[in-house]
Amino acid sequence: MRRRLPRPSEILPLIGTVDRSRTRIERRLERCSSVWDVRAMARGRAPRAVFDYVDGAAMSETSLRRSRDAYRRVEFTPRVMRNVADVALGIDVLGQPNDLPFVFAPTGFTRMMHSAGEAAVARVAAEKGIAYGLSTLGTTSIADLAAASPQTRRWFQLYVSRDRAQPEEWMREADAHGFDTLILTVDTAVGGIRRREVRNGLTIPPQLRLSTMAEMALHPRWWFDVLTTEPLSFASLSSTGGTVGDLLTRVFDPGVTGEDITWIRQNWSGCVMLKGIQSLDDARLAADLGVDAIVLSNHGGRQGDMGNVPLELLPEVVASVGGRTEIYIDGGIMSGTDVVAALAFGAQGVLVGRAYLYGLMAGGEAGVRRVADILEKEVRTTMQLIGARSVDDVRRVEVRLRGA
Ligand SMILES: Cc1cc2nc3c(=O)[nH]c(=O)nc-3n(C[C@H](O)[C@H](O)[C@H](O)COP(=O)(O)O)c2cc1C
Repeated sequence: MRRRLPRPSEILPLIGTVDRSRTRIERRLERCSSVWDVRAMARGRAPRAVFDYVDGAAMSETSLRRSRDAYRRVEFTPRVMRNVADVALGIDVLGQPNDLPFVFAPTGFTRMMHSAGEAAVARVAAEKGIAYGLSTLGTTSIADLAAASPQTRRWFQLYVSRDRAQPEEWMREADAHGFDTLILTVDTAVGGIRRREVRNGLTIPPQLRLSTMAEMALHPRWWFDVLTTEPLSFASLSSTGGTVGDLLTRVFDPGVTGEDITWIRQNWSGCVMLKGIQSLDDARLAADLGVDAIVLSNHGGRQGDMGNVPLELLPEVVASVGGRTEIYIDGGIMSGTDVVAALAFGAQGVLVGRAYLYGLMAGGEAGVRRVADILEKEVRTTMQLIGARSVDDVRRVEVRLRGA
């Protein structure tokens, strides 16, 4: 075969040029092809104690691992030749359209991951047409979040303090600022034992050991970001001391029961979602209590360890109470295929927690946007490749868990 020297005009188009209109971070995010890639980027950018606060779970972290592993066991029976040129990703969530089949879950202490914090998450939620839940342990106040992103469909996640005057005040404020749904988290009778936080000295305020400080010195950008913006504190709570788990135990009421739903209905006129249901019996109880929605959730494995795997529990809960309350699920969602799997097993929609926090740590608002883009693309592609034109179609797809 005769060889020849390539002409410059043939080589030059093959060499990528740097798009100067985007920041270096945005270009790095662009090269992340999965939420796992974004997680790896976050690990490099955030101090270990911060990354571990997000990435970690309770005790042996088995619940989190099992939740993620369950999605690896999903097996669809794809259908072909279904004309999937146009695919509708939207769902109805508590009487309103949600443009994608997932929402952003409430997460505490969000500005620790990046100063852009809850406001950035809410803005991306608005861009994507999805809801976002602000946590009681948020680092942005109810009023500030509403001001930062008035277009976002806003929910407020409630932990019930021992002193009931406080949650009543939060409910009034959330209502006054246009939050339409209250998420009552019920898997938090006491704080879970999160070993990484103890080991890293991640208490509030931080009790940093020398080794932790040294590790943190490797992340000057994070320090600069934190030290040159509004000081990091809970927006609705003044109590500090111990880990976040210790705080949950000290401040919030382990005496919450189903009867508190009556008290909530007296103080809150919007929708009520019970988050943290982990058994068929409690799902039935929740439906009997007349809540508008439940979330099958073990708090991303951050509370109890060794509990039921939400995805495995989902089909029997849907069969039992599906007509009486809306059923959502969370825990371990790291890809759009995971989202589609949850829908195929009967979930109305999915809550996503860590995934967007990895984005926030990796690149602030641009990182959250990148994660939302990745999930959206993966949801769409998965739907097209299993032959589903809508989320209703997804629910008719044949699906099973291998080894179940
Ligand atoms: C760092 C972090 C903080 C969280 N804080 C709260 C919270 O304040 N209130 C709450 O109801 N759930 C909280 N969650 C749980 C999430 O709402 C959600 O249930 C969980 O993240 C879902 O699992 P995933 O992270 O695997 O998506 C938190 C989760 C993480 C990762």
